[in-house]
Amino acid sequence: MSKYKKAIVTGGAGFIGSHLVEELVKSGVYTISVDNYFAGKEENLAHLKQYDNFQEEKCDVLDFERLDELFEGVDVVFHQAASKKTICLNNPRLDLDINAKGTFNLLELAVKHGVKKFVHASTGSVYGEAQYFPQDENHPLVPTSYYGCSKLAGEKYVKIFNHLYGLNTTVLRYFHIYGPRQESSDVGGVVSIFCRNLLNGQPMTIFGDGTQQRSFTNVKDVVKANIAAAELDNTNGEVYNCASGIKVTVKELADMVAKSLNISDPVINYGDWTPGDIKVFDIDNSKIREGMNIDFLTDFEKGLQETVDWAVAYFENK
Ligand SMILES: NC(=O)c1ccc[n+]([C@@H]2O[C@H](COP(=O)([O-])OP(=O)(O)OC[C@H]3O[C@@H](n4cnc5c(N)ncnc54)[C@H](O)[C@@H]3O)[C@@H](O)[C@H]2O)c1
Repeated sequence: MSKYKKAIVTGGAGFIGSHLVEELVKSGVYTISVDNYFAGKEENLAHLKQYDNFQEEKCDVLDFERLDELFEGVDVVFHQAASKKTICLNNPRLDLDINAKGTFNLLELAVKHGVKKFVHASTGSVYGEAQYFPQDENHPLVPTSYYGCSKLAGEKYVKIFNHLYGLNTTVLRYFHIYGPRQESSDVGGVVSIFCRNLLNGQPMTIFGDGTQQRSFTNVKDVVKANIAAAELDNTNGEVYNCASGIKVTVKELADMVAKSLNISDPVINYGDWTPGDIKVFDIDNSKIREGMNIDFLTDFEKGLQETVDWAVAYFENK
């Protein structure tokens, strides 16, 4: 990241944010992690405390005054903080505040402080149920969840600031990211939850019949996409699907996690469908592959084994 000297990563203590902070710090960029630790964990950043170019700030994206101080001299922002999809069901008003107003705060401060690049983490949930396959970036945006709706509002504000103020922005729509450090509690990611279940000798629970199809995407590729979005000139004002393009059902995933832990005949419980759940993800990622030269890991067994190995070591030390 030779172009930039000082970065802010919101949600820096979270799953994806902590991987991004690590990459930036190790490449020599002065990096401030902004996180309110609602879901983030200090342990995700503990290994970076030894670096002089790393700053950890407990700060909410709704705290405009404190953010204003932190933005001094910042030239690139990676906005990863968000309220989680599962939490949105319980508190949709807070979800609206964090995902829409929080994004608005950061955009306003980016313009005020002359930030050179704003990379925004969005989600495939902005599309809602697919109207055609594979879904490209021009697919209609009809979210079916509070989360999808508030994340779409954030995206739209990004677009407005790009148009009105010429802020250099890029939106990355993520899909089913997996990898080390993903939250494994019930509000976490399905790969991590299944790992925890099996390592604790519990059954895995599938909500629905397990035929729902996901495009699991490795966190390392998401970090690469963020860095490329910040570095490349052709990404200004653009929106990209950030997905591996692979198609795996949740039942297949359960079987693969069990296999990678050498567990035969795992117990699987079936629960009700999650409200607003989208059944099929079949994502067109040609724009990001061609425009940013991102070569996604499509060997899911390999990526999954690395994640499972991490989970084994993590739970052994708990
Ligand atoms: N993980 C996925 O599969 C996935 C898929 C689509 C989109 N995304 C998007 O990627 C981004 C990162 O997600 P993640 O999976 O790393 O989740 P995460 O929950 O691990 O990280 C989000 C971080 O934001 C922090 N946060 C929440 N509210 C905040 C607030 N008001 N102020 C400051 N910090 C706050 C949390 O404490 C957490 O550390 C989010 O924008 C999310 O919408 C993730």
